[in-house]
Amino acid sequence: MITGAARGMGVDITQAALAAGYAVVATGRDPAKIPPAKNLLTVRLDVTDPASAQSAVQAAVDRFGSIDVLVNNAGNFVAGFFEEITPADFRAQVETNLFGPLNVTRAVLPIMRAQRSGLIVTISSTAGITGQEFCTAYAAAKFGLEGWAESLTPEVAPYGIRTMLVEPGFFRTDLLTPQSTTYAAPAIDDYAERTRQTVTAWTAMNGLQGGDPAKLATALLTLINSDAPPLRWAAGTDALKVLEDKAHTLLHQATAHRALSSSLAHTA
Ligand SMILES: NC(=O)c1ccc[n+]([C@@H]2O[C@H](COP(=O)([O-])OP(=O)(O)OC[C@H]3O[C@@H](n4cnc5c(N)ncnc54)[C@H](OP(=O)(O)O)[C@@H]3O)[C@@H](O)[C@H]2O)c1
Repeated sequence: MITGAARGMGVDITQAALAAGYAVVATGRDPAKIPPAKNLLTVRLDVTDPASAQSAVQAAVDRFGSIDVLVNNAGNFVAGFFEEITPADFRAQVETNLFGPLNVTRAVLPIMRAQRSGLIVTISSTAGITGQEFCTAYAAAKFGLEGWAESLTPEVAPYGIRTMLVEPGFFRTDLLTPQSTTYAAPAIDDYAERTRQTVTAWTAMNGLQGGDPAKLATALLTLINSDAPPLRWAAGTDALKVLEDKAHTLLHQATAHRALSSSLAHTA
């Protein structure tokens, strides 16, 4: 079962799963945009709507009897300097990119617990590993996914349910198009020139991203089919570097003030 399957990497994941012989439930806000195929059920699912998640899961079970793998893929990008992102837009980003996957997973887990097996795959981002300017809302939502999935993992492991976080670098999808990216309206003079430059740079990247989502989808199917899917998987050489750099940075930060960090216990 895949969310956001009408555009972007959700399309490639759907096709790779069908090619691998899976029966697929491809979901989207407008399922009519998902082309029909053998072994494919298309269902309406807006991830921000818990009732929509429940009914999509019910439709999947009615048709196929079980859900073996959920791919939390749907997402969008609210970009801009923190002070220029409206509270409503920031909240909407978290509704889609964090609460969205939670809504769908909450609907799927009872099915997986009953069958004592399942895999929850969540497409996070390198922005869920390392923050960067212009990405406060997106990174906040993706960092949230990281903590949620890491904490969920031991909760559901006793029932045969595994989790996998996918950390893509830049992939050539619709994400940086106006359909999927909302830039904050310039509002503060101090940021005006940086906003102009950053929007220009992000816009110019659209269509030139190095990652091929079809290859990501095929690799993802390899991991889904493996005996031990990893808890966290770097997708792309740029993603590998982000994860390695973060590991080194964290090690440095952890040990930089070792004596002070270790001096905080009660003396008796
Ligand atoms: N592409 C990258 O470089 C990259 C990098 C890191 C992480 N990611 C992550 O990869 C995932 C897929 O993104 P993509 O690159 O494939 O972007 P995309 O081409 O823009 O596709 C996004 C998909 O999510 C769907 N979606 C958005 N809001 C939704 C909602 N409320 N309910 C259901 N579906 C919704 C969209 O459907 P509609 O047609 O209805 O809008 C679309 O199918 C996202 O989680 C994204 O954050 C992408």
